[in-house]
Amino acid sequence: MTQGDVDRFVQQRVAPALQENIVTFPIDFRLAAQKKKQLNTSSLVETTWEDNTARKAVSADGYGMVAYILHAIGLKGTSWLTSSLLAYAEVNPPHIGKSATSQSKVGLYADRPGEVRGEIRLVRTWFALGQEHKGEAVPSRDILSSGKMLAKSCELFKSLDLVSYRVNSLLKFVDPQFHANLTLLREAMERKHAVSKCMNAVDPLLYEGREILYNRISGLHFDTQDPKLAYAALLTAGQFQGGYVSIPLLKLRIRLEPGDMIFIRGRVLEHSIEEWEGGQRISVPHFTHTSMWRSCGLGHLVDF
Ligand SMILES: [Fe+2]
Repeated sequence: MTQGDVDRFVQQRVAPALQENIVTFPIDFRLAAQKKKQLNTSSLVETTWEDNTARKAVSADGYGMVAYILHAIGLKGTSWLTSSLLAYAEVNPPHIGKSATSQSKVGLYADRPGEVRGEIRLVRTWFALGQEHKGEAVPSRDILSSGKMLAKSCELFKSLDLVSYRVNSLLKFVDPQFHANLTLLREAMERKHAVSKCMNAVDPLLYEGREILYNRISGLHFDTQDPKLAYAALLTAGQFQGGYVSIPLLKLRIRLEPGDMIFIRGRVLEHSIEEWEGGQRISVPHFTHTSMWRSCGLGHLVDF
C-alpha cells in the first residue's frame, strides 16, 4: 500500500465528516497566540465531544485549532499498534524524566501492576537541548543508545509505515497548507542534514518526531517547542476508556480512546490529559519543533 492509496481511503471515508462538522469558537486565534490579555472568552460554554462524531474546531478569525478523528486507525490497526508498542518497550525500556525537558513537564505516570509506564522519544532528527550534540542535528538518544537499539528502532519505523501514512493523510485533510509546509521542511532537512536523509529512508512520517508515552497523565501544558501554526497529532492505543483531552481556553473536553486521534495547535492551546479507566494507555504525540524550521530557513511558514 502506498501513501496515495491511503490518501484516497482517507478522502472517501474520513474527510467528508471533518468537512461537514466544523464548529466555530468565538476566539481570536491570533490574539490567543500572542497571549493577549484582552482575549474575551465569556461567550464560550462548556462543551464535551464524546458522541462519536468527527469534528473540527475553528476560530472566529478563521484558523483551524483542533480536529477530532474517531477510529483513525481502525480496530485491527489499534490492536496491532498496541502489541507493537508494548513489544518495543520490552526491547527499549521507557524512562521517566531522563532529560531536563522531561523533568520540566507537568504530570505523572500511572503506576499499575502489569502495565508499562514511562516515555520513549523517537525523533529522527532534532537539536537536542542540553546534550553533548548541542547545536547539531542528531537522532534522539533513545534511538541511538546502542547499535542494537538503532536497528530495533529502524525496524519499528518501518513496521509503522501504514500508521505514518495515515497520520500524513489525515493532516492533509485537516490543514492542507501545514501539510504542504511540513513536506517542504522534510525535503529541506534532507538537503541540509545527511542524517535526516538516512533516517527518513525507513520512516515516511512527515513529522520529524514522535514520543511513545505509556500511562502518562499529562498536566496542563503548552507544546512550547512547537511552532505556533503547527499541529501536534495525538494518536492513542491500549485498552482503556475515557482519557479526555481538556482544552481550557475553548472550555472543550474531547474523549480520546484507543485508535482515536486529535490534531491540536498545542503551542497556542494549553491542554491536559485526564485520568482514564480500564487498562494500559499509550499515547503517541507526533510533533515538529520550531528550531528545525528555523535552521532550514522556513520559520516564517509557521509563525505569524
Ligand atoms: Fe502536549
